[in-house]
Amino acid sequence: MGSIIEVFPGKRGAGRRSRVASAWRGAPVPAIGAVRVRGAKLEDYAAIRALQRVSNPGLPEWTLKQFESHRNAFPEGQLVAIADGEVAGAASSLVLRWDDYALDNTWKSVTGDGFFTTHDTAGRTLYGTDVVVDVSRRGAGIARAIYQAQRKLCRKLNLRRIISAARLPGYHAVSGEMTPEMYAQRVIWGDIEDTSLRFPMSQGFQFCGIIRGYLPEDRESAGNAALVVWLNPLYSPTEPPANVVTERPRKCA
Ligand SMILES: CC(C)(COP(=O)(O)OP(=O)(O)OC[C@H]1O[C@@H](n2cnc3c(N)ncnc32)[C@H](O)[C@@H]1OP(=O)(O)O)[C@@H](O)C(=O)NCCC(=O)NCCS
Repeated sequence: MGSIIEVFPGKRGAGRRSRVASAWRGAPVPAIGAVRVRGAKLEDYAAIRALQRVSNPGLPEWTLKQFESHRNAFPEGQLVAIADGEVAGAASSLVLRWDDYALDNTWKSVTGDGFFTTHDTAGRTLYGTDVVVDVSRRGAGIARAIYQAQRKLCRKLNLRRIISAARLPGYHAVSGEMTPEMYAQRVIWGDIEDTSLRFPMSQGFQFCGIIRGYLPEDRESAGNAALVVWLNPLYSPTEPPANVVTERPRKCA
């Protein structure tokens, strides 16, 4: 398998991707202290917003109202990673009844237009909406620590799986030459570098397909996203999700 340069010589964007990839491989891993993942607090909002602005240019960051709505709906699912005393990464998630969305889902429908009003404690799917890491601290395992915390949450709540929709930010440069399905396949095969999809693959997620029109505002991905899933090996279908408060049977005297 070669790099994208060998596969698509001289195509627009290939040079940049190749430079980004070699910079990522060649750059020294940033020396950071221990990474701690905890629930997001109101005072983290400005830092999270700044991370999103840099990591996903052209896409709107969470508004304060949305951020507050996430914390009200599902505080355990709103995470930040702290390194050297600073917010170095962040991720949001909610619980869904996946069957309600599986066949026709978009960022808007799944997230309740970004407010997580779709959060449903009777659902069995933890849906990861986004993960971002400070550019200067990438490659140091911060996103891995966040995903570990999400898997721990998934197990704790006895949920069946984690589903996420990964962006395909390199797709716009080659959209004239291939379908998003082919693009995703080539990322997974290792021909094309695209961190947004490579990252969940490296964390044991499986590729389920492309959602066209998932987020039309995401011009870099041409509106597409790659659906990925991680199955919880400890999931017990006979137990209720642990976040559902059930009435305990009274003891007989
Ligand atoms: C994707 C992102 C979250 C990764 O964050 P990170 O802290 O640098 O990632 P980590 O250092 O924890 O690396 C985790 C894994 O991803 C892989 N990875 C990370 N960056 C990579 C890259 N540029 N190319 C290939 N693999 C990469 C690593 O191999 C690592 O695997 P390992 O756990 O087996 O060692 C970060 O690059 C980012 O914020 N990107 C912009 C937003 C984005 O794309 N979010 C994800 C999808 S919506």
